[in-house]
Formats: sequence, C-alpha cells, structure tokens
Amino acid sequence: MKKHISLLLLILGILVMSSTMVMAGADPGTGIKATSHDLSTATGRGGAWNAGVAADPTLDRICIYCHAPHHTIKAADAASAGLTYYPLWNHDPSTTATWSLYDNGLDDSNFESQRLQAVLTDPGSVSKLCLSCHDGSAAVSSYGNYNSGIAGSKHTGTKFIDGRFGIGLGGDLSNHHPIGFDYEFVASIDDEIRDSSNALLGDNPYGITIRELLFGDKMECATCHDVHNTKNTGTKFTWVADTNSNLCLSCHAK
Ligand code: HEC
Ligand code: HEC
Ligand code: HEC
Ligand code: HEC
Repeated sequence: MKKHISLLLLILGILVMSSTMVMAGADPGTGIKATSHDLSTATGRGGAWNAGVAADPTLDRICIYCHAPHHTIKAADAASAGLTYYPLWNHDPSTTATWSLYDNGLDDSNFESQRLQAVLTDPGSVSKLCLSCHDGSAAVSSYGNYNSGIAGSKHTGTKFIDGRFGIGLGGDLSNHHPIGFDYEFVASIDDEIRDSSNALLGDNPYGITIRELLFGDKMECATCHDVHNTKNTGTKFTWVADTNSNLCLSCHAK
C-alpha cells in the first residue's frame, strides 16, 4: 500500500512540475518569452499588437520589436530623438517633445521635496526607450529598417498603447513616481532614503543593490522594472515583489 501511495505522489509530482514548466515563461524571472513583452504571434500576444503591420509568421521573433542585429537606429537619428543609450534599438522612438515632470503640488522651498523638484530632469534615455511604447506616441509595432533602404522591412503599426498600460500618455509624467533625477544626491540630503549600497528587500536571490539599478546615478523606469523578466522576483517585471511594500521600503526608510 505504502509503495502505491509513493508512486501516486511521484506521478502527481511530475504532473505538477510539468504544468509549472508550461507556465514558466510568464513567471517572474523566467525570461521574456510568454510575458507581456513577448509580442510574437506563437508564444506571445498572438498578434494582438500587430495591427497595421504584416505578421511575421515564418520567423515569429520576440526581440525584433525592440532590437535587431542590423540596420537599427543610427547615432544621428538617436541624437535627434534625444536618445543617448539605444542598444541596437529597433523601435520607433517616442515623438514626445515636452514632458510634464512629477509634481507633488507643494510650494515650500524649505521642504526636502522642493529639492527633488529642483533636480528633476526629463526622463533619461533608458526610460525614453520604455516610453517609446508606453507614452502612446509611437505605435507598439512600429519598428525596423532605420534608413537601410530595404523595401518592406519598415513596419508602421497602428495600435497604440492605452489604458493603465499607458504611462506618461501625452508626455504627462506628473502623476507617476518621479524618474530622471539624481538618486545619489537625493539620498545625501534625505535621511529617509536608503544609501544606494543597500540590497533590495524581499526575495532578492541575486543580491541586487539600488546602485546596480541606477543609470548614471539616476532613477529611471528600469530602476524598478526588469524589462526582460530575467532577474526579477516580482510580477509586472518589478525587481522584487511589492508584497509588504518591499519594493518601496527598499529605498524609502519609512
Ligand atoms: C519590449 C522591448 C524589448 C524586448 C522585446 C527586448 N528588449 Fe532587450 N532591452 C530593452 C530595453 C528597454 C533595454 C534597455 C534597458 C536595460 O538595459 O535594462 C534593453 C537592453 C538589452 C540589452 C543590453 C543590456 C543588457 O541587459 O545586457 C540586451 C543585450 C538586450 N536588451 C537583449 C535582448 C534580447 C536578446 C531580446 C529578445 C530575446 C530582447 N532584448 C528583447 C527592451 C526590450
Ligand atoms: C515595443 C514596445 C514596448 C517597449 C519598448 C516597452 N514595453 Fe512595456 N509593455 C508593452 C506592451 C504591449 C505591454 C502589454 C500591454 C497590454 O497588455 O495591454 C507592456 C506591459 C508592460 C508592463 C506590465 C506587465 C504585466 O505583466 O502586466 C510593464 C510593467 C512594462 N510594460 C514596463 C516596461 C518598461 C519599464 C519598459 C522599458 C524598460 C518597457 N515596458 C518597454 C510594450 C512595450
Ligand atoms: C518606484 C518604482 C517604479 C518606477 C520608477 C516605475 N514603475 Fe512601473 N510599476 C511599479 C509597480 C510597483 C507596479 C505594479 C503596480 C500594481 O500592480 O498596481 C508598476 C506597474 C507598471 C505597469 C503596469 C500597469 C498596470 O496597471 O498593470 C506599467 C506599464 C509600468 N509600470 C511602466 C512603467 C514605466 C514606463 C515607467 C517609467 C516611465 C515605470 N513603470 C516606472 C513601480 C515602478
Ligand atoms: C529605487 C528606489 C525607490 C523605490 C523602489 C521607490 N522609491 Fe519612491 N522615491 C525614491 C526617491 C529617491 C524619491 C525622492 C525622495 C525625496 O525627495 O527625498 C522618491 C519619491 C517618492 C515620493 C514623492 C515624495 C515627495 O516628496 O513628493 C513618494 C510618495 C514615493 N516615492 C513613494 C514610493 C512608493 C509608494 C514606492 C513603491 C511602490 C516607491 N516610492 C518606490 C526612491 C524610490
């Protein structure tokens, strides 16, 4: 009898394991495949974002919406789009020209927050890469063929991001967590902001520190989110889950 039970448990175990393996792609930290950022037809969003562009059924690629090996954005075009970091970037840049930055409404120059206000700048380049889809100024599937002259490889999508996934729609970042400011400076004047040498709280198997998530000392979208779903343990690509506000408490000593 005992033997039968353990055999049954073994079979159940295998079943549970194989079902989680099928789900794996969408779980935090298991790679980009099958996440919201997998826009491919086969494993991803089933072509939901391909309105206006020819489907890519033969190759069915994941990276292509954001990167390509050849003919990606040229330095000159990146510069005119305000980009200083564009890793083989293949997506149309955001066309937003002016940004409304974070504003807490307070007007009191003695208050620490006013000092944040003073050092806030436009989103940095790495955030502008996110905003090229998330601010709704360029269609999600507008990508490819920067000045290569190859007919048919420029895709001009017609489906724009919207609703709660639209962050900074119309360039308005005023009601989102501040980005594009010098974290090190703010941490030096605000004793309730943790030093950047601290590791993120919660489930952080790679021991990632705040410092590793800053871009030229600045806080950006990718300071909280892991775009490729590789080393994060939180859903929605957050480096750590916000359970018990672990993400917030990683920086805010509240
Ligand atoms: C939805 C857009 C998107 C997709 C799809 C995407 N990336 Fe990225 N990738 C980015 C952004 C944004 C950055 C810059 C942010 C950063 O470095 O964290 C980046 C940075 C990179 C970098 C340089 C920094 C690093 O992490 O090494 C590499 C390499 C890279 N991506 C490879 C890939 C590959 C390979 C794929 C497909 C399997 C892929 N990416 C799919 C958006 C994307
Ligand atoms: C090529 C376009 C594109 C780029 C570039 C891009 N995203 Fe996204 N992102 C999307 C789409 C499409 C969705 C899914 C929206 C939906 O389901 O309606 C999404 C979803 C998300 C989500 C929600 C995930 C979830 O599981 O609910 C987060 C968070 C996110 N993106 C953050 C980022 C960040 C941060 C960057 C830059 C580092 C970025 N994205 C770059 C297209 C993009
Ligand atoms: C301070 C950390 C932080 C920063 C900075 C940040 N996010 Fe997020 N973001 C979060 C958290 C936490 C969530 C999950 C919120 C929830 O589940 O309600 C989230 C959710 C999202 C979602 C999904 C929205 C939804 O309702 O599901 C998108 C898209 C997104 N972020 C994009 C961005 C972009 C683009 C930037 C930069 C302009 C950015 N984020 C900057 C922490 C951040
Ligand atoms: C990577 C570090 C980091 C993370 C993660 C983070 N914050 Fe922040 N946040 C900051 C810094 C730095 C400031 C600027 C604070 C200052 O002016 O002293 C800030 C500003 C703010 C402000 C505005 C303060 C003001 O004076 O107007 C609020 C509110 C806030 N964060 C809440 C949150 C919440 C809620 C979360 C979790 C969802 C979170 N933060 C996650 C670093 C972070």
